[in-house]
Parts: sequence; structure tokens; C-alpha cells
Amino acid sequence: MRRVTVPLPDRAYDVLVGNGAIEHLNDLVPDRVQRIAVVTQSGVPAAFRNLSSHLADRHIEVFEIGVGEAAKSLPTIESLTSSFARMGLTRNDLVIGAGGGMVTDVAGFAAASWHRGTPVVHVSTSLLGMVDAAIGGKTGVNLPEGKNLVGAFWQPSGVICDLDALDTLPPREMRCGLGEMAKYHFLTGDDLLSMELEQRIARCIEIKAEIVAADEREGGRRALLNYGHTLAHALETATGHDLAHGEAVAIGLIYAAELGRELGRIDDARVTDHRQVVAGEYDLATRPPDGLDVDQLIELMRRDKKALDGLTFALDGPDGVEVVTGVDERSVRTALEWFLA
Ligand code: GLY
Repeated sequence: MRRVTVPLPDRAYDVLVGNGAIEHLNDLVPDRVQRIAVVTQSGVPAAFRNLSSHLADRHIEVFEIGVGEAAKSLPTIESLTSSFARMGLTRNDLVIGAGGGMVTDVAGFAAASWHRGTPVVHVSTSLLGMVDAAIGGKTGVNLPEGKNLVGAFWQPSGVICDLDALDTLPPREMRCGLGEMAKYHFLTGDDLLSMELEQRIARCIEIKAEIVAADEREGGRRALLNYGHTLAHALETATGHDLAHGEAVAIGLIYAAELGRELGRIDDARVTDHRQVVAGEYDLATRPPDGLDVDQLIELMRRDKKALDGLTFALDGPDGVEVVTGVDERSVRTALEWFLA
């Protein structure tokens, strides 16, 4: 098992990565905790939903949230926090989010809101959750107007990434995790696929941990973690979530490369490199779905959360991936028309 520390100056926490890491869950629970609210979902393997055997002598209640983006909502937060009230959860107690990225986002936001902040530990059960969603304290829910529009930064006090959970992960969800992993490839140039799985996941967490520690609230550098995400979020919305997040990120990485070339930041060889890594090495689909509307995608990209100053992208360039604000619409459109053709 590996231990990666997220080195936040005043709230550093550990992420335990490896087969059987769940055995160490109790080590992440402070002695003062009397009650634990476990937030989970159907489909999460029973070994990661029924956690009482790993949690000594506490009053535990388990709450299942719905499946699908529609359940990632404020009514779900209301229902969870009403349950917390009924069980008498205090700020000395603990919420555990046990599941994939949706569960840890929702559990994290419920914990952030409950009594203005109650500790949360995540037990991440998907590859995407392990390398991204469960790490770094972004929590939140969707509104009908868009994804993740309401949320809070609320760091977990520890994270378990037990690789046994991946044994039963559906292939599509595994591919979604690989989409996020390919992103880390471009942020660092690390040959992640040459590493065995435990080391590879731990390395992705290390990369993210370093960026989060430097810029917890996304004042700048953290936006690099959104490489490939500007188009990805637009694609998710435009397809009514037919494309899952990691699938959209794989496509978004190629578009980001095409846009980087259009803006003269990278050359043809670097675009080919992106295709080789995402489609070749990670074996991910990079072709956008048919029938997309360029104007709609541009409008959606304008509404992206990091677009504080016009169309904003994380883009590759001579000095690596950087956040570029105020990208001119003509270039975005030209690259998009070329990409969708
Ligand atoms: N998923 C991007 C971030 O945590 O900043």
C-alpha cells in the first residue's frame, strides 16, 4: 500500500492507495467520533458500502443516494442533511462518502454544509474518483442550468483508494478514469502507462496533490487540472450526458490540442502526439459525436466556470500546459469546425 499526502499547509491529509486499503479506514477516524453517516449508492460493491466491520464501536447509519446526474441535486442534499439531523450528527462526528465521483462530490457537499462543516472521509471506488474527484476538496451538485454549479471547497480528512473496488468496475467507468489519467500525462509528460496500477494511481494523486496544495481555491494553477475539460463539459451538456465525463475529457484533450495548434502554441507533431497518447496508448475514443452544433458548444464553453475573462482554456504550449484567458472566438470556432468535420 502507498500513502500520498495532500500537503495543504494547515490541513494536510493522507490518501491510502492499494489492494486492501479499506482495512485502514479506522485509522482515518478520530477517536472523538461517535456517529458516522455513510453516504453511498446502489451499485457500489457491498464490501465498500457496509463499512461497520472497519469502524470500531461507532453508531453508523447508511444513506443511499440516487443514481445518475439528476440525483446530484440540492433535494438530495436536503434529504441527506435531514437524515443527519435525525441521527444527531454533530461537528465532532464524521461523514463518509463511499462510492464513485458523484457520491464523494455529494457527500462532501453535504458534509461541508452540515453545521457549516463536518469532517468527511472518502472511500473512492472508481478509477476516476481515485485519480481526481475524491482528491482536492471540490464538492457540489448540479442545477437544471448546469453541472456542479453549487458547491464548496471542503477537503476530506483522509481518502481510501482500495484497488479491489476496481475489480468489478464496469469497463465504461474504467475508460472514464483513463480519460482523466491521460490528462495527467500531458500535465507532466510522465509515462504513466509504464507503471503498474497502484503506482500509476498514486502518481496521478501526487500530481494532483501538488497542484491543489499550491492553489486550493483555483485562483490560477489549479485550472490546469481542467486540461481538456472546457469542451468536455460542453459536450456532456450538449449530449444530455450521453457522453460520460471521462469520455468527454478524452475528446476534449484532442480539441485542446487542435486549438493550441490553431493559436500557434504547438505544432502538428504535438497534436499527433496527443492523438497517439489518447487514442493509441489509452485506447480511448476521440471522435466527437455526430450532429453537434458549433454555436451551442461555443455558448456552453463561454459559461464554463473558469471563464472569468472571456473564453478560457487550459492549453499546451512551449512552456507546457497553461491557462489562457480571452481566447478569440474565431480561433475557437475554426478549430471546432475543423475538429467536428
Ligand atoms: N477536477 C479538477 C479539480 O479538482 O480541480
